[in-house]
Amino acid sequence: MSGTYLVTGATSGIGAAVADELARRGQGLVLVGRDESSLQARREALVGLGAARVVSRVADLASVARTRALAEELRAVPIAGLLLGAGVIEVTRKMTDEGLELNYAVNHLHKFVLVEALGPRLAQSGGRVVLGAPVGSVTSKLDDVHGLSWSMFKGVSTSQFANDVLAEALPRRLPGLEVIAWNPGSTRGTRVSRTLPWWGRALFWLVNLRGRDLLEVGVQGADLLMIRQDQPLTWVLGQRSVSSPHADGLEAQAEHLWSINNAILDSRGESARREPPRRR
Ligand SMILES: NC(=O)c1ccc[n+]([C@@H]2O[C@H](COP(=O)([O-])OP(=O)(O)OC[C@H]3O[C@@H](n4cnc5c(N)ncnc54)[C@H](OP(=O)(O)O)[C@@H]3O)[C@@H](O)[C@H]2O)c1
Repeated sequence: MSGTYLVTGATSGIGAAVADELARRGQGLVLVGRDESSLQARREALVGLGAARVVSRVADLASVARTRALAEELRAVPIAGLLLGAGVIEVTRKMTDEGLELNYAVNHLHKFVLVEALGPRLAQSGGRVVLGAPVGSVTSKLDDVHGLSWSMFKGVSTSQFANDVLAEALPRRLPGLEVIAWNPGSTRGTRVSRTLPWWGRALFWLVNLRGRDLLEVGVQGADLLMIRQDQPLTWVLGQRSVSSPHADGLEAQAEHLWSINNAILDSRGESARREPPRRR
């Protein structure tokens, strides 16, 4: 479907590569980033690649308050799909100014807030959401989203599992909305390892030597957003991340996820409690 696509993480790596490919296909773009000068450079580059129209919004997506404000700003904008690609890998426990564990805030909560706000309209227009996957998940629990019992990959992994539950539960609750949890696999040329210790960066570099090229990943991401339902989606489903919750436990996991996230959002006091959209 042609139109305007919202891309978070548009200033680097996988999000930037998908934005590049959408621009080459002549699509409109709403870029989200946390640094205005990077966004300006990206706007110019994307127009040069052929984007129909490029606008940008500055937002630190680790902040629930800012992400909610962004969602409100975007409610009226006609959007064809979301590529929620902003992400971090933090292997030490870091808390945001709002008291949230950083992996959970950036890798999951920004996606939850944007999809909740923009999802109903996207569902009506047959839009699609692609959730960039932080990493293959090694947990299937949501109990420690604040990282109180920290272990090295637990933060990233918990945020990944939350995305898997979100991806599986949303289409049941918002019929018409397609949600894809996309793990492009090891990808060369991104900056995501910058937060790792030296040995982690070295390991990441070694593993990614045989990783995928950013150009190829960008094409795949753009296909995931734009290929319509009447075209084969088998390979798309093959890109789901490995920890997709079993369907029988899904409703319970989804209830749990919404209750955890609503508690977080309520305690930040931004707006009245929102009920999860019920399965129709
Ligand atoms: N690279 C891989 O091999 C690979 C494989 C599978 C999954 N992934 C996952 O894909 C996601 C993106 O990774 P990448 O490799 O593309 O990394 P990247 O090159 O570091 O890009 C990350 C993007 O997220 C943005 N971002 C980070 N924190 C943000 C915040 N608080 N507010 C707003 N934007 C923020 C960054 O903005 P700035 O430019 O301002 O930093 C950047 O645009 C991560 O979750 C990663 O775990 C990566």
